[in-house]
Amino acid sequence: MISRRGLIAGGALTAVGALTATPAHATAVEPFHGIHQAGIATPPQAYAVFVGLDLLPDTHKEAIVRLLQLLTDDARRLTQGRPALADTEPELAMTAARLTITFGFGPGLFAAAKAESPVAPLPSFTVDKLEKRWSGGDLLVQICADDSVTVAHALRVIVKDARSFAKVRWVQRGFQSATRRNLMGQVDGTIQPADLDRAVWIGQGPARGGTTLVLRRIRMKLESWDAADRVAREFTIGRRLDTGAPLTGRAERDEPDYSQVNRLGFPIISEYAHIRRAHVTDPGLRILRRPYNYDEGLTPDGKSDSGLLFASYQADIDRQFVPIQRNLGKGDLLNEWVTPIGSAVFAIPPGCTPEGWIGDSLLS
Ligand code: HEM
Repeated sequence: MISRRGLIAGGALTAVGALTATPAHATAVEPFHGIHQAGIATPPQAYAVFVGLDLLPDTHKEAIVRLLQLLTDDARRLTQGRPALADTEPELAMTAARLTITFGFGPGLFAAAKAESPVAPLPSFTVDKLEKRWSGGDLLVQICADDSVTVAHALRVIVKDARSFAKVRWVQRGFQSATRRNLMGQVDGTIQPADLDRAVWIGQGPARGGTTLVLRRIRMKLESWDAADRVAREFTIGRRLDTGAPLTGRAERDEPDYSQVNRLGFPIISEYAHIRRAHVTDPGLRILRRPYNYDEGLTPDGKSDSGLLFASYQADIDRQFVPIQRNLGKGDLLNEWVTPIGSAVFAIPPGCTPEGWIGDSLLS
């Protein structure tokens, strides 16, 4: 018979073992160099932080290039599990945990470098209630990893090294579940573009291999969502909550049938259901969604301060993101419960070679 004492001692030993062992995911590394930057087609890591920075006044092209060379060097080391130069916490750099550090340039960076911007601010949408503190930015750094301390360390290194050139405008933290469920309980991210070369990566010119990012901070009104019944919630999206299957199918991956009607002749997937409003038939015009949940606790009036950091990557914002958002604005049932409160656009430069730096094809 195992004694109670033996069990406790055994338990204590296991606990010590768990504290000192390095889990396998901690050392997993994502490649840094290549035609595309990592962090876009990369399967989503558990934690993300998006940082928007503004260049300090009178930061011209030469300084921008120096900044990008410095930050590229940080990213090149940290993503491979190596400390940054003069890293004050080198132990924290050892846990790569699939760290990716992805850079994006806002219209203001191109203006400061006196280069033509491939991205312009979005038009305004009827659903928007944008707050300045979550919008805009000259430089984006997107940091993702499966370990939250790894993310915090990389953020600190990047912000420290950027300090003489830029100041932080906003920081937005997010997290993902292995179930891919968002905070409304839905399975999110089912339909994605099959052909990234057509839909996501830019095919020609100096930005070849790059893409664009639309980042929207979308608040969820979880209190009133909680009050809606299950039928209404499933009707809103056009998919089931348990399996994520379309209302006309059984499994998540079943093709939605938009022509099916019920006994009364009404479409089973409503004209105003989110998936119908957002659906794009041309596979080359789909967007790659890589959303993260956010949850900042409660607002001062006691409501949940949660939602989605909706990150959408596409070769061309005007041809891909804008028409979808317009369609949603015109009559998506989901609008009752979600409000965009932040918005920013960035050109995501291509990846770089071991000798290069992120942005070299656009700025040199
Ligand atoms: C908080 C806001 C949002 C929530 C909770 C949400 C949730 C969902 C869910 C549950 C699905 C179905 C599963 C899937 O295919 O991923 C979906 C599909 C989709 N959503 Fe959203 N979404 C939001 C905002 C947006 C926005 C702002 C856009 C673009 C402007 C968008 C574009 C899409 C697209 C393109 C699809 C796939 C449609 C298809 O079936 O072809 N969503 N969304």
